[in-house]
This record gives sequence, structure tokens and C-alpha cells, in this order.
Amino acid sequence: MTLQSDHSHPTASQALARLTIEEKIALLSGASSWQTVGYPDRGINPMTLSDGPHGIGWGASGDQTGTPQAPTAVCFPTASALSCSWDTALARTQGAALATEARRTGVEVVLGPGMNIKRTPLGGRNFEYFSEDPYLSGRLAAAVIAGTESGGVGTSVKHFAVNNQEYDRFTISAEVDERALREIYLRGFEIAVTEGRPATVMAAYNAVNGIPCTENHRLMTEILRDEWGFDGVVVSDWGAVSDQVAALKAGIDLEMPSSNGVGAAAIRDALRSGELSEADIDRAAARIIELSSRFAARDRPDPVASSEAELVELARTVAQQSIVLLRNERDTLPLARTSTVALIGEFAQKPRFQGGGSSGVNVASYATARDEIGRFLSPEQVRYARGYDSEQVNQSLLDEAVTAASEADVALLFVGLTEMTESEGYDRETLSLPASHLALIDAVCAVSPRTVVILHKGSVIDMATWHEKVDAILDLNLGGQQVAAATLDIVFGEVNPSGRTSETVPLRLEDTPAYVDYPGAQRSVHYRESIWVGYRYYDRRKMPVAYPFGHGLSYTEFEYSDPRATVHGNENVTVEVAVRNVGERDGFEVVQVYVHDDISTVPRPERELRGFSKVWVPAGETITIRVELDRRDFAFWDEHRNHWAIESGTFTIEIGHSSRDIRASVSVELAGDTHSVEIVDRRTPMGHFLGDPEFAAMVTRFMAASPLLGGGAEIPPEAQRIVTEVINGMPLEKLRIVSAGAFSNDDIDEVLARLAR
Ligand code: BGC
Repeated sequence: MTLQSDHSHPTASQALARLTIEEKIALLSGASSWQTVGYPDRGINPMTLSDGPHGIGWGASGDQTGTPQAPTAVCFPTASALSCSWDTALARTQGAALATEARRTGVEVVLGPGMNIKRTPLGGRNFEYFSEDPYLSGRLAAAVIAGTESGGVGTSVKHFAVNNQEYDRFTISAEVDERALREIYLRGFEIAVTEGRPATVMAAYNAVNGIPCTENHRLMTEILRDEWGFDGVVVSDWGAVSDQVAALKAGIDLEMPSSNGVGAAAIRDALRSGELSEADIDRAAARIIELSSRFAARDRPDPVASSEAELVELARTVAQQSIVLLRNERDTLPLARTSTVALIGEFAQKPRFQGGGSSGVNVASYATARDEIGRFLSPEQVRYARGYDSEQVNQSLLDEAVTAASEADVALLFVGLTEMTESEGYDRETLSLPASHLALIDAVCAVSPRTVVILHKGSVIDMATWHEKVDAILDLNLGGQQVAAATLDIVFGEVNPSGRTSETVPLRLEDTPAYVDYPGAQRSVHYRESIWVGYRYYDRRKMPVAYPFGHGLSYTEFEYSDPRATVHGNENVTVEVAVRNVGERDGFEVVQVYVHDDISTVPRPERELRGFSKVWVPAGETITIRVELDRRDFAFWDEHRNHWAIESGTFTIEIGHSSRDIRASVSVELAGDTHSVEIVDRRTPMGHFLGDPEFAAMVTRFMAASPLLGGGAEIPPEAQRIVTEVINGMPLEKLRIVSAGAFSNDDIDEVLARLAR
């Protein structure tokens, strides 16, 4: 945006010139918990920053309905649910709605989206994050950001970076190798920052490879700004800064909330000692002034005007698109309106639709299944039983539930994780549902002709003990205040389900990739699984899972045909496939595009999501979808040369309904940037060069004469293999010794130069 230079809108440098050094220093720390410092008389308005990712929270926290002091706001589906929509247009619309809500409640910057990778399913804050996959996370976060910022409100993508657990979140150091950092943990942020262009980025509490994020120059300046071109404000997570001088030097502009003068005093000392210069202060202050002039100007354009009713309706649409039908045996769903139904479980009258901690929204109202079922059935067709009142089994509630279930055609079981189980601030201990919910599923399944489990939870759970007993499973995640309405729309077939999992559902906790290296000890957690996160790990190990990444059923069926891939230039590829709805109902299909490098020097995943498209296909019709891939979709991080690389060769592009339901595939040949990323120097094993006939002939000649190998004596057949392997494994430089000096250092250089050509 271009800044105007009249008196009310001074440019950042004009505004800076009107401030004393003290005033500039004060700008770099919050004025209070949620406000920044401002000097309205000099055209710099203070800003209000508020959580959060799925509704304006104003610090509302804790329980389901938030604290009464916070203004009420609409609670949209959390990232764990929104991500299951696989719908970037919808994510953008939800983002725009957040802007409307922010403008109504006087908020200039929304603290979200959160987009850390779900490394372990135990992460207490997984409900606030999108996925185990960086591409899906990045594309959805970029869409939310673009939507919110189009409404004249800033965003703060968080928590940068590698903040994947709540355990010891303030002090833990994530020890992660460079390839995993680039390909998994930073990639989503990179997409969000370069495509979504957020106004601010929030620096995380934790350290990465020993350096606290708020003091991490490499992350906050070299990667974020210099490589990705971020030009906004870096704000600290609340209370994350311990040393504001170090933070400023690393690239943190704004410390939040106020450190009550502690940071300012340290900055003054550092200015006096020469550790900081006034230019360091000016740089951060100018960015904060720019932010304020973009978002706190009194005359910024109006956001899209939406009434509260429209926003509530949007919350329901997003929930409809996000609910995942995991299982549907014997076509149990959708239900006929002639059925009698037992609604069982307290969540039927008090659904769990958001998680605990800073993202809490104080809602004015929320839908319940008990109310919503009236749209489909008469009161005589419905029984209700509470089923549980805590995590512990309550036998009389259980007995009531059994009676209700035995009197109905179908039991709709509303179960999941309780509020205390998943929250900011701590991780989960198991993947299990609470004892009372498990007992309820068992008891109801024993008497009910049909059982539908309706899951309310923000992260994956273990279904092993009850999965085979139930007929259908609907996964709501934490779907916002209208999730109950959306659920019944799907249960009764008003809406055809189209959500897809954004995280693999493992069979058991012990199967998960980070199981042996979580939660860490002595202040560090080692990400030894490296890039093998989520489906990359399960697919590599060919492990069975409960539900794979990208899975979700529909009330119709789709067939794929005519996959095509066209290469343009070197590494741009257009992928096309025809998708036919062969069932009887219209519906959305989520077409997923995965890439695999057939032959590569470094281990690469069996498949990696590189594109997707959610498309509406009327019954009987065929739609051709197109997905564009670019060079980064084929590249990996070359740790030796520290850059993205593509090795020339064949890549398989798989197109499917889920990561384990590939329905079409096609290959492309890419020229790439290099034939191989192998390290080529004097220490390279000779075997790597033997494909070069001239070199091979020379090696054979020297070897034959080498005293090491008997000076030309015949090698017995049974020793030939070992001799060859020994030679193959020897570094090139050993040729000098093997050849008794006949092959000099200069000859080695010459060979290397020739092979490099
Ligand atoms: C959380 C952030 C949040 C901030 C302000 C912190 O504890 O980690 O996600 O935006 O508080 O509420």
C-alpha cells in the first residue's frame, strides 16, 4: 500500500521524525495486554490486537462460551475443522468474516491463523492448527490471511516456528534438521507468507536448535525477511521476549504485551553502550507505524457488510463442508425422516465446538442437536439420554441411554473429548476417549440396531476398541457454534458430506512418528523422525492406519479418468483429470494431487500432497479439473548445498480421493537443476564414477596392477564380489595409493573437473 504524505497520514519516515527517541522506544512494546502504543496527535493511532483464529476473542478463555467480559462474537470452525473442508475459497470467506467481526468489535489485528504442523497427535493445541501436511496448512492459512486482510484487518500468522507441543512450550528447544525444517516445519509458513502476505508474524515461545525464536536472527530476519520477502511486523507471542535487545537485533519489532518498562530500560542501556543504534530502533518503529497507518486509520475502507445472521449462517456452511464422514456401513446415513432416533450424550445439548485457551470466543448463542432435530423429526420420534456427566462412568445415566437406544431405530451418539482434555498450555496424555464415553459406546452398541458415532474433538483419537461395532462415524472436529445444525443437515441428507481428514488417524499412539522422541527432556526435543511426519511416515513404513490422510466418504461415488500432465518450460506442470459423479446425488469431490520422485539420491516420501481442488459435480456429470504444479512441487531441500533442488528424471503424479485411494496416475520427465545431488569431491567413493567408461577403464587398469590386490594375480571367483565392493567404496583420493603414486593429485583434479562437466 502507498502511504500518503498529508498531515493526517504521514509516511512512516515523516512520522518517525516527529517522535523523540523515548517515544520511538515506547512504540516497540505493548501499551497493555491488547493495545499498542500510539501518538494520535502525530498521526499514529494505537492498535488493538485480539485472538483469535476462529472468532474474535478479546482474551476470552477457558470454557466453551468464553468469559462474560469479552464482547460476544461468532465462533467459526477451528483450524482442525476448517482444514477438513480442503476449500481455499471457503477459508478465504471465513477470513473475511473475521475481518467483519474484528471491525465491529474494534480490533485492528487478529492473532491468527495458527499453523504449526501436527507433529504428534498429543499436541494440546492441535485443534488450532490445520494439518500434518505443510502444503495443506500453507494454502489454507494463506486463504484465511488474504480474506481477513481484504477486509481491512491485519493478521498474525503464528507461532513461528516449530512450536509443535505445549509441553514445556516456553523453554523447549525443537532440535530439527535443516531438511525437515525447510520441507515440513517452515514450508507452510513460507506459503502463507508469500501467498497470503500477512501484516504480522508472531514469534513463538520455544527455541529452535537452541536459539529462542524471539532471539533467532536466522529465522526472523534471514529466512522470513531476506528469503521470503516479508515486510510486515514481527510481534512476539505474549510474554515470549526475555531480552528485548536481543529480540530487536534478531528482528522482533513489537514485544507484546507491555514489559512494564523493563525492555525499554534495556534498550536505553544498549543505545548508550553502542550495542544498538538509533537505526535499529527506527527500523522496527517504522514498521509498527506502517502497520498502524494501514489498519488503524480512522478512514479505512468498510469491510464486507454482513449481518450477524449471515455470519452465523456462514459458520454453519463452513461446518457442513468440514465434517468428515469416516465410516458408513450398510449406508446407515443419511437417515430417513421416518426413523425413530435416540440422541445420546450430553454433547447433543451442549456440543463441544471450540478448544480451551487464548482462542476462546464468547458466543451469543449456539446450535444444539436437540433443537435442530426438530427440523427433521416430530418430538414422538426422538428420545434423549444424557449418557454421561463427567469423564467417569455414571451407571444410572448409562442405563437411561441403553433404554433410549433400545427404543429407537438408530442411536446418534454424541461423544468426544472433554474441555479439559485439549487446550493451550498442555498436551494430551492419551488418544483415548474418556471412560464414560467409551462405556456409553459399548452399552449402546449392544442394544441399538444402528449406531452412529458423532465425534466432537480437536485432534485425533484412538478408535480401536469400538470402531468395528459402530455403523457410521461422523467427525466434526471442533466445528464452531453452528456445528450441530450442520451435523443434522448431513445426518438427514440435506447436505452431502465432503470433508476429508487433514491428519492421519493412526491405529494407536505407539505407531505415531514422534512417539519415541516426544516430549523431550533437559529442555530439548529431538525431531529424529525428520521429514517422516504424518502420512509421509506411515506410507514409507507401509503401515496400516485407522484412516489415511485425505480420507472422507460421500453419499455419492466418483470415478476418475483421462489423467494428463503437460510440462511447460522446465518444471511447470499442468495436471488434468476427469471426475465423474457416478452416484445419484450431487456432491463435492476433493481431488488430491500427490508427487513422487521415482529415483533420487536422497530418500524421498512415497507421495507428497502438491495440489488439490474441491469441485462440485452434479450426479451423472463429468468435470475436468486442473491443478498447476511448479518447480517447488518437485524439489527437496539439498542439505549439502543449502538450497531447493530437483534431480532430473521421472516423477509420478498420483491423483486420488485420499492418500491411500489413488485413482489415476501419470508420469512426467523433468530436466531438473542437476542430474544428481551427490557430493562430488576427492572423498566420493569410486563406485559413483564407474558409470563413466573412461574412468572405469582406468580404475580397472590400476587395480589390476595394484600390489594391494596381488599385483595382477588372478582373483578367485568367490572373492570377486568383495573386491569389487571394496574398490567401489574407496574414496577417489585412494587411487594415488592404489596406483603406487602413478595417479597423482593433479590427475584426481582432472577427473573431478571432467566429471563435473
Ligand atoms: C498464545 C497466542 C495468543 C496470545 C494472546 C499466547 O499465550 O500462545 O496464540 O495469540 O497468547 O492471547
